[in-house]
Amino acid sequence: MSSSVASQAIDYGEASVVRDEDRSNPIAVRFDHVCKTYKLYKNDRQRLLATFSNRVKCDTINASDDLTFECRRGEALALLGDNGAGKSTALKMITGVCFPTSGRIEVHGRVSALLELSAGFDMRLSGMENVRLRCQLWGLSKGESEELIPGIVEFSELGKYIDQPMRTYSSGMRARLGFAFASSIRPDILVVDEALSVGDRKFAAKCRKRVSSIMEKEGVTVLFVTHSTSQAKQFCSRGIVLSHGKTLFSGGIDDAVEFYENT
Ligand SMILES: Nc1ncnc2c1ncn2[C@@H]1O[C@H](COP(=O)(O)OP(=O)(O)OP(=O)(O)O)[C@@H](O)[C@H]1O
Ligand SMILES: [Mg+2]
Repeated sequence: MSSSVASQAIDYGEASVVRDEDRSNPIAVRFDHVCKTYKLYKNDRQRLLATFSNRVKCDTINASDDLTFECRRGEALALLGDNGAGKSTALKMITGVCFPTSGRIEVHGRVSALLELSAGFDMRLSGMENVRLRCQLWGLSKGESEELIPGIVEFSELGKYIDQPMRTYSSGMRARLGFAFASSIRPDILVVDEALSVGDRKFAAKCRKRVSSIMEKEGVTVLFVTHSTSQAKQFCSRGIVLSHGKTLFSGGIDDAVEFYENT
């Protein structure tokens, strides 16, 4: 690995997450025996008490259970599995929205996520101010931002609302702006959860078209969660099938779909 590549390694006790922008690494994402355990308390009072005492009883669920897989650079990998299989949890750990309980995750490249689109905006600022802020956080130069922003604004179809505080937006309008930004910034790794439905029917169709065009571009690594086996076959070359947080199958997309449909 080149020593000039900025790298971040975070230890969470038994778990570790390594992130860098090493585009020469043939692996874009690696999960090594990753577990993510959620604690389920009977009520909010029990949850609160648990912050003071470790004697509060709770159930646990393994959303990821010894999950091991790799996604190679430039590859489009489908994550298949029934409801509750752990697909979104895996994506969220890649984006850093949640962290593993144990195991190791490596992410080599800049990630843009088409999930939780409304998260992270400052509601006191206008849409335009939020977009400028995100461009800065993404590390874009002023010139790069100025080049990108008109396209983001146009795609969002927010019209004059782009200069209004985001607290005045409907939830669909926030998601539109989130989608417009996340899909415009040319990431190394794109994470897409199909469950995503943005705005009204017309806008959702426009979003699907944009996702298809990004996924068809070479060089972008895609992790695609879908229940549609035809879409998985259309966009992805490999697939993994998850069940109860575990990988049941990993292989070529046709074999993965066949396995998924027959289990
Ligand atoms: N914040 C949370 N607290 C408790 N349990 C959670 C939490 N998030 C997810 N889970 C549980 O983890 C398991 C995996 O959830 P996840 O959302 O990853 O499934 P999924 O494969 O994306 O399902 P779907 O196809 O329905 O989107 C489920 O049993 C879910 O209830
Ligand atoms: Mg999901």
